[in-house]
Order: sequence, then C-alpha cells, then structure tokens
Amino acid sequence: MTSAVYLIFGATGDLARRKLFPAFYSLYRERKLGDRFAVIGLARRPRTNEQFRDDLHQSIEEFARYKVTKDEQWDSFAEHFQYMSLDINNVDGFKQLRELTDTLDAKFDVGGNRLYYLALAPELFGSVSHNLKEGGLLESAGWNRLVIEKPFGYDLQSAEKLNAEIRQVFEEQDIYRIDHYLGKEMVQNINVVRFANAFFEPLWNNKYIANIQITLSETVGVEERGGYYDHSGALRDMGQNHMLQMLAIMAMEPPSRMHPEDIRDEKVKVFRSLRGFQTGAEVRANTVRGQYAGGTVKGQQVRAYRDEDSVNPESTTETYFAARVFVDNFRWAGVPFYIRTGKRLPVKTTEVVVEFKNVPDNVYLSRKHKLEPNLLVFRVNPMEGIYFKMNAKQPGSEGTVVPVAMDFCQSCQVGLNTPEAYERLIYDAARGDSTYFTRWDEVALAWKYVDKIAAEWGADGLQLYGAGTWGPEKAQQLLAEDGFRWWPVN
Ligand code: BG6
Repeated sequence: MTSAVYLIFGATGDLARRKLFPAFYSLYRERKLGDRFAVIGLARRPRTNEQFRDDLHQSIEEFARYKVTKDEQWDSFAEHFQYMSLDINNVDGFKQLRELTDTLDAKFDVGGNRLYYLALAPELFGSVSHNLKEGGLLESAGWNRLVIEKPFGYDLQSAEKLNAEIRQVFEEQDIYRIDHYLGKEMVQNINVVRFANAFFEPLWNNKYIANIQITLSETVGVEERGGYYDHSGALRDMGQNHMLQMLAIMAMEPPSRMHPEDIRDEKVKVFRSLRGFQTGAEVRANTVRGQYAGGTVKGQQVRAYRDEDSVNPESTTETYFAARVFVDNFRWAGVPFYIRTGKRLPVKTTEVVVEFKNVPDNVYLSRKHKLEPNLLVFRVNPMEGIYFKMNAKQPGSEGTVVPVAMDFCQSCQVGLNTPEAYERLIYDAARGDSTYFTRWDEVALAWKYVDKIAAEWGADGLQLYGAGTWGPEKAQQLLAEDGFRWWPVN
C-alpha cells in the first residue's frame, strides 16, 4: 500500500532534483503510486507552489526515465505536490506542517500514512525527528516511517549518537536507512543467481573460489561536494556502506526465507566474521590509500584533488582505497575479498568478479599457456549483466584451449527501461519492505571495521595517482602478493 503523504526534507537539494522527483514520476507512470498520495517539498528557502512545480518539471525532464510534457497527465501528477518553507529548528513550523499534512491527507484520501524522507545533513536528523514528534505529526492514524540518507555518522561513536537521537522518536522497524546500492537491480540479482541456480551455490566456498574482487570505479572527481568529501574520503563515503554491503551479499549464507529480517540477520553474521585489523602494520599491509593528482580522464584534462573547490590545498583525504578483506568463517576461510574504489579512474563501473580455483591441469600439461581461471562477473552498473568466462577448444585447432565468454547483457535488451535504485527504495519503504535498507547492527559493525582502518592510516601512507589511471601501484601488488591480479573491468 503506497498511499501516504511523503514529506521530503531538503526538497531544493541535489538529491531531490536528480533522484527523488524523477523516481516519484516513474512510480506514478507505472501506477505504483496510485492516486492516494501527496508530496510536500520542504526546505528553508521561500518558494511558491508554482515555482516548486516548475522545478519539479525541470528535474523530471532532465533526469527521469519517462518523457514528460506539460499536458493533462502532468497536471494530475503535479497537483499532488506542494511546497512549504520550513525552519527545521522551529517547532511552530512543524505545527503548521502538521496542518498542511492533515489537509492533504484528507484531500487525497491517504488514510494517515506518513513517510519522512530526510535528504539532509545527518547532523539535522536528530532535531527533525524531535520536532516531528513535538509538532504532533506522528499522531496520525496510519504508519510513520523515517527514511534517511547516508552518511550515517562519521565513525561508530557519532553513528551511535545519531542512532540514539532518532531512536528516541522512531522504532528501529520504522527507520529505513538508505544505501542506494542495495536498490540496484544487479545487486539484488546476486542473491537470485546464487540461490536460484543449481550450478553456483555448490561451488560457492573456499574449496572452489580463489578470490572475489569488488570494483567500484568512477570517472568523476568530487564535483561540487568538496566540503563534504574532504572530511569523509573514499573509505567512509563508499567503503563503509556500498562496498561492505556488496561483500556481505556475496558472502552471506542462504537465509531460511527471503524475509527482510532473515536476510539482514545473515548479512550481520558476515559483518561479525570480518577479520578486524589489530595493528597499524596489518592495516598498512592490507590496505591502499590514494589521492588523485591531475591527469586526463576520457580525453579531458582534469585538475588534482587538492585544486578542487572547497578542498584543503594540503588535504590528505583519500579519493581511492583498496583492501584485502577476510571473512573468517567456515565457508570463506582463506579466500581473500579484494575491494577497491576510487574517483577519477579510467571508467565508471561497478563489477563483482568471482575467480574460481584452477582445475588440475595434468590433462593439459603440454600447453604453452596455463589455463585461465573461470570467472563469474556481476556487472552492476552502468552496464547490467552477468558474464561467465570458461575454457573451450578453439575451433579448428588441435585442442588449443581458449577462454570464451558467455555474456548476458540485461541492459542491452531492447525496450528494457531498468528502474532506478531510488524508485525501488521509495516504493519498498512505502510498502514497509525493509529488505534493501540497512539495519542498525549492520551499520554499527561496518563502522567498527572501518574505524580501525581509519585510525591506523596516517597521512604518510597516502599515495598520489594520476587522474585517469587505475590508482596506486600498491593496489596491484596487493593481489600480486597472493598470486592474483585485478581482472580488467567491462
Ligand atoms: C554515493 C557517494 O553514495 O555514491 C558518491 O557519496 C558516489 O561519492 C556515488 O559518486 C556513486 O553512486 P552511483 O550510483 O553513481 O555509482
């Protein structure tokens, strides 16, 4: 049931413009929103409803999957949207907001459900939650759910504080912490491929898998987010959340049922099994930390990170990191998971590669070249698909063995218009399905793991890499030490 009043805090911001409004539009066009809903855009700056709806139209025109024109269909969509200027520290504003919410609830026959979407800096989550309660918004007849964006804190301590503030007002089951990678089709597909096929799960362990590689590379720099990013860095911005979440999905045991709590319980067990680093020497031996210098990306000359706007010219923040991670349980003992992410790398891609162990090669001992290992690759974005590399006889040869690829390209299918992660996540939150949101214990354990790395990383370990390259050389060594290499992406 998606009938709700959706209150978007931070409605004039980038996330709302690029992701949230286009997602509402797609959900509407696909009739998943129905007609019993209203959206209230909230931000400090004054705006009329007309101006707000014009902004809405522009954002949808620019970013939505569906084409939009200003016609009757648009009018009936746009009439569900209203704007209110709100000072989030002022409880009187929230009382007014309650009135507006009640009015729209009655007008669109919503039935008392409210979804509060905080597209705001996390420092504000506590006071917004408090004022929602004080302003009487939570006294409605239906459900009240809080959707919050990352970063959820800066470290475990600040995340605990933030969580405690929110929990004074909302129960854990009503808190939906977004990790938008969990909304991506191919990330959701990992479990299906694992648990709905006979030929992967029996091999999914340390007897057959040599290593797993997770790459999340971006060509962009920090864009307009220098202020936030310089304080955060790649480990906190991508590692604590997207990368560890993908790792947990790859490593988790099959849940007894595909229910949110069962799935999240299994992920938590993976987080608990992560081998935490004990000493600075261990951190240095197993992680790589880099920052981009100037260079050329996709034919364009780009500046160094330290020359970006709002970045400290002597910054030692990392824009790249890689790590060798171990999951110390029966299934994964001895299998390294290599993770890497960085900005200003040569291509934008997210891929998860499973490298299988070699078969005994006595049959093929006379070959000049060693057999290539089998690879299973999940292509998460921008291309979506599954790729499997195996060995086969080269046609016409006397038994020459060559790697061949079986490539399922989901995003190449004609007419396929894959839903954006945010569509899925907004829809799920409205239906009360928390499977693809992170639970507090997952977040806390991920911080605990990451905090130890951050605490031991001195500025001296930072290595510069040229924009447009694959990051510091040390990241290649990390795998070479174990006899492996990063498989080329795409
Ligand atoms: C965000 C990070 O969570 O993910 C950004 O804060 C990053 O720094 C973005 O650019 C990448 O997301 P996507 O979906 O474009 O791969």
